[in-house]
Amino acid sequence: MDLKHKTVVVTGAASGIGRALGLKLAEAGCRLALGDIDVKGLAETADMITKINGHASIHPVDTGNRDQVYAFAESVIGHHGNVHVLVNNAGVTLTALIAEMEDADFEWVMNINFWGMVHATRAFLPKLKSTGKAHIVNVSSVFGLCGIPTQAAYNSSKFAIRGFTESLNQELKGSGVSATVVFPGGILTNIAKNGRFKSNSGLVRDKSDVVALHEKLSFTSADTAAKRIIKAIQKQEKRVLIGFDAHLFDIIQRVFPSGYQTILNLLISKRDHLLKNK
Ligand SMILES: NC(=O)c1ccc[n+]([C@@H]2O[C@H](COP(=O)([O-])OP(=O)(O)OC[C@H]3O[C@@H](n4cnc5c(N)ncnc54)[C@H](O)[C@@H]3O)[C@@H](O)[C@H]2O)c1
Repeated sequence: MDLKHKTVVVTGAASGIGRALGLKLAEAGCRLALGDIDVKGLAETADMITKINGHASIHPVDTGNRDQVYAFAESVIGHHGNVHVLVNNAGVTLTALIAEMEDADFEWVMNINFWGMVHATRAFLPKLKSTGKAHIVNVSSVFGLCGIPTQAAYNSSKFAIRGFTESLNQELKGSGVSATVVFPGGILTNIAKNGRFKSNSGLVRDKSDVVALHEKLSFTSADTAAKRIIKAIQKQEKRVLIGFDAHLFDIIQRVFPSGYQTILNLLISKRDHLLKNK
C-alpha cells in the first residue's frame, strides 16, 4: 500500500508507540487522525506533527467506552471524509494475581485493550471497505503468545486480539481490506508507568519494580516499533513480531507449547538480579 496522502487513524497516540507511529506516518505523507484519553499528550503529539509540516486532527476518546468509540469514528470521518488505515494501539496493563484482582480492574483492561479494538474495528469497517483498499493493524503483545503470572488480564486481552484479527482477516478476503496482528516484545514506553498494580504475589514488590523490570527488559525503541508497523501496513503483512525477544518467545512457545511456562518461571526467578541496582 502506498501511504502518501492516505488518512490513518491511530489510537493511543498521546505516548509511546502511538506517538512514534503518528510522527513516522506524517513523515511518510499521511494525514493523521489521533485518538487518546490523554488530551494533553494528544495535543503534544499533534504539535510535533505540525512542526514537521504534517497534518493531524485530534479526537479525545476513551477506547474503553463503546459510545465514545463510535462517536470517535463519526468525528474522524466527519473531519477527513475518508479513512484508509486504522491502527488499534491504545492499551493498558494490570499487575495482579487472578485470585486477588478486582473484577473492575480486569474489566478496565479488557474494555480498553480488547473491546476498544473490537468497537473501533466495527465502527470504521464500513468506511474502510468503501475506500476500496484499506488496512487494519491490531496491536497485541508477546503476552498474546505466552501467559505469565500476574498478567492474566493483559494476557487475556492480547490473546483475544490475535484470535479476533486472524478471524477478521479471513472474513475480509476479497473485500480490499486486510489486517495485521502485531506482537511487540519489550518496547521502551510509558506502558508500565501508566499501568495499575494490585499484587501481593511476591513476584514484584511494588509498581516501581514493574517499571524497573520493564525498562531493563525493553530492548526496542518506540521509533523502531513504529517503523516495523509501517512496513507491515505497506506490505499488508498478516502477522508481525517486533524485537528479538518477541521472536525468541514465539519460537520457545512453539517448540515447548507447555514447557515454556517452566522456562518463563526460571527467568522470573532471576528478577532480583535485574532489580538489584534499580
Ligand atoms: N511497551 C511495550 O513493551 C509493549 C509490548 C507489547 C505490546 N505493547 C502494546 O503497545 C500498545 C501501545 O502501548 P505503549 O507501549 O506505547 O504504551 P504507552 O502507555 O506509552 O501508550 C499507550 C497509550 O494508550 C493510551 N490509552 C490508555 N488508556 C486509554 C483509553 N481508555 N482510551 C484511549 N487511549 C488510552 C494512553 O493514554 C497512551 O497514550 C499497547 O496496546 C500495548 O499493550 C506494548
